[in-house]
Amino acid sequence: MAARVREQPIGIFDSGLGGLTVVQSLRDLLPAEDLIYLGDTARYPYGERSVDDVRRFAVAIADDLVARGIKLLVVACNSATVAALDTLRARFDIPVVGVVEPALRAAASTSRTRRVLVIGTRLTAASGAYGHAVARLGLEIDAETYACPGFVELVEEGRADDAETYARVHQQLAPRLTARVDTLVLGCTHFPLLARPISEVAGRHITLVSSADETAFDVRDLLVTAGWQRTRSTADGGSLTVLTTGDPLRFRTLGAQFLGERLTDVRQHRIAALDRDQDAA
Ligand code: DGL
Repeated sequence: MAARVREQPIGIFDSGLGGLTVVQSLRDLLPAEDLIYLGDTARYPYGERSVDDVRRFAVAIADDLVARGIKLLVVACNSATVAALDTLRARFDIPVVGVVEPALRAAASTSRTRRVLVIGTRLTAASGAYGHAVARLGLEIDAETYACPGFVELVEEGRADDAETYARVHQQLAPRLTARVDTLVLGCTHFPLLARPISEVAGRHITLVSSADETAFDVRDLLVTAGWQRTRSTADGGSLTVLTTGDPLRFRTLGAQFLGERLTDVRQHRIAALDRDQDAA
C-alpha cells in the first residue's frame, strides 16, 4: 500500500502564479516527487474576494486534484488556507497542508521578543486566522496581522525592484515594525519576491519567515513519517505538471520569476464546477 502511495504525485494549488514559490521550495527539498500545480488565474486575486467565494473555489479545485490521485494536497495560497483549510481537511482523507501553521511554528521558534508581525492580503488580515492558529497551536507569541494591499500587484507587474516599490514597502511597513517585533512572517505567496525591499525596511534585527520554505519542511516531515516519500535519485528528478485556468502563455512567461526556473509546459485547464465564474472572468 505505502509503496503504491509513494509513487503518487503531490497536488498544489494557488490563486495563480504565487504558489510557485511553494513549488520551488518543494522541488529543492523533495526533488524526486512528482508535482501537479494548479494556478487559478481566472479567479485571481483571492485576497480581494470574500471568504465564501474563496472557499468555494478551493473546494472545486481540490476535488479536481484529488480525482487525479494525489497523495497529499498543499494549499499554497495564504488566502485559500485561511478560507478553506478546515473544510478541505474534513472533506478528504489525504493529508492537507496549508501555509499558515508551518510559518507560525517557525516564527514561534525564532522570536525572542515573542512579538511577530504577519503581513498578507486583505482577506488574510481581516479573517484573523493567524491569531486563531496561534491559539489553536498553543504558541506563546503575539502575532499581529497586517494587510499590505498593492504588494501582490507590484510583484505581478514585475516591479519588485523598482524605486517606487521600495518607497511603498517602506511607507506601509515601517510604522508597523515597532521596537519589539523581531520576526516578520511573509504571509502571502508573492511576498518572498519582495524580500529585498522588505529586508531593507526590516533591518538586521528582524528575521523574515517564508511560508513557502516552512510548508515544504512540513510536507517532507509528513511524507517521511507516513513512509510515502519517493526515493528516486535526484538525477532522475520528479516531474512538474502545471495547469492554469487562465492564459497559459502569460503564466509561462511570468511563472519563471516565481519558480526560479523556466516553465516549459503550462496547460490550460477548466474546473467544470466553476465554469460559470470562469466565463464571467
Ligand atoms: N496567493 C494569494 C495569497 O497568498 C495572493 C494573491 C491573491 O490575492 O490571489 O494570499
